Amino acid sequence: MAGQNGPISVSAFIDLALYSEPGGFYTDEGSAGRSGRDFITSPEVGPLFGQLIGRWLDRQWDALGRPVAFNVVEVGAGPGTLARTIAAGQPECSRAMQYHAVERSAAQRGRHPGGIASYSELSELDPAGGPSVLIANELFDNVAFDLLERTATGWAEVRIAPGEDSGWREVLAPASAETVASAERLVPEAKVGARVPDQRRAAALLGSMRSQLEPQASLIIDYAVATTAELASRPQEQWLRTYAHQQRGDHFLQRPGEQDITVDVCLDQLLDGAPASIIATQADFLKDLGIDELVAEGDAIWAERAAIGDLAAVKARSRRREAEALCESTGLGRFTVVEWPATPS
Ligand SMILES: C[S@@+](CC[C@H](N)C(=O)[O-])C[C@H]1O[C@@H](n2cnc3c(N)ncnc32)[C@H](O)[C@@H]1O
Repeated sequence: MAGQNGPISVSAFIDLALYSEPGGFYTDEGSAGRSGRDFITSPEVGPLFGQLIGRWLDRQWDALGRPVAFNVVEVGAGPGTLARTIAAGQPECSRAMQYHAVERSAAQRGRHPGGIASYSELSELDPAGGPSVLIANELFDNVAFDLLERTATGWAEVRIAPGEDSGWREVLAPASAETVASAERLVPEAKVGARVPDQRRAAALLGSMRSQLEPQASLIIDYAVATTAELASRPQEQWLRTYAHQQRGDHFLQRPGEQDITVDVCLDQLLDGAPASIIATQADFLKDLGIDELVAEGDAIWAERAAIGDLAAVKARSRRREAEALCESTGLGRFTVVEWPATPS
C-alpha cells in the first residue's frame, strides 16, 4: 500500500482500506445493518425512518407544486434500505417519484431493490425531466479525509508509512501552503499536539452533488460538529472511529479492509460555500415530521390487534422501540440534519 515516492496521505490510506478492489471494507460487503453487519444506521433500525423521510419528500413535492416527474437522488445509498423503506411507507409522491441510488460499492449496489436506478458515481446520473431532490444519510463521515497536526512550528500533515511486521505507522510531513492556510483559518488557537481532519474531499463531493444536480431541495444527515476547532480540543480517538461487527474497532491503521473508518463531519468545512437554511438534531427533525403521532398510531393498532398477533400488530408494536432508537439523545437522535428545503413555487 506504500506509495512509490514514500509515505502516502491518510486519505489515500482510507480510500484503499474502505474501497480498494478487492479487499476494501465496503468492496467486501462490510455494511450497515442489524445482526451480522458492522454498524447500525437509521434506515436499518426499521421501517419507521424511511416512512418519515417519505413524509419529508412529500413536503418537498408539495412545495414544488406536485410535479408529474420527481427525481429523488440518494448518494451513498448502501444496500438500498432507505429506498426500500420509503417505498414501503407509500408516500403520496410515489406516483411521480423516480428513485436514483448512487453507491460506490458494487457489492452494496448488488443488494439494491428493483424499481430504482443504481449508479456507481454521480457523473453517471442524468435525471431526465422534473425537479430533483438530494438525500444522503451517513455519507460524508465515510468520505476519505486527511489528518493535520499542530506542531511547535506550525501545521504538519500526518502521512502513512510501512511499519514493522507488515503494519503501518504515522509520520509527520510538511503540509502544503494551502492546507496550512485552511487550518489556520479553521483553528486559529490550536494547541501544540492538536489534531484535526481535513475534509476537503467531502466538501468537494457536496459541491459537485449540488452543482451537477441543481437540486430543488437537499437533506443531509450525519454525525457532525459545528466547527473543526471543537475536534482540535478532543482526542483523535473520539472523532476518528472504526467499527466492525457492531462494535468499536481498533486504531484506524490496524487491519485495513476489515473495519469501517469514520470521522465526525465538521460543518464549517462541509458547508463552506454552501450555507444551509436549516440545521437541527435528528430527534427534532423526526418530531417535526410526526414521529410521535406515528408511534401513538402504532400503540393503538397494537392495543387492538395484540390478541390476534398478526404482522400488522407486530410491526405497529416495533414503532415505539424504533422511535426510541432514532431519537436517543446519546445516539442517532443527536445526529445533525442539514436541510435546504424546496421553496414553494
Ligand atoms: C455508512 S454507509 C451509509 C449507507 C446508507 N446511507 C445508510 O444510511 O445505511 C456510507 C456509504 O456511502 C458509500 N459511499 C462513500 N463514498 C461515496 C461516493 N463518493 N459516492 C457514492 N457512495 C459513496 C459507501 O460505499 C457506503 O455504502
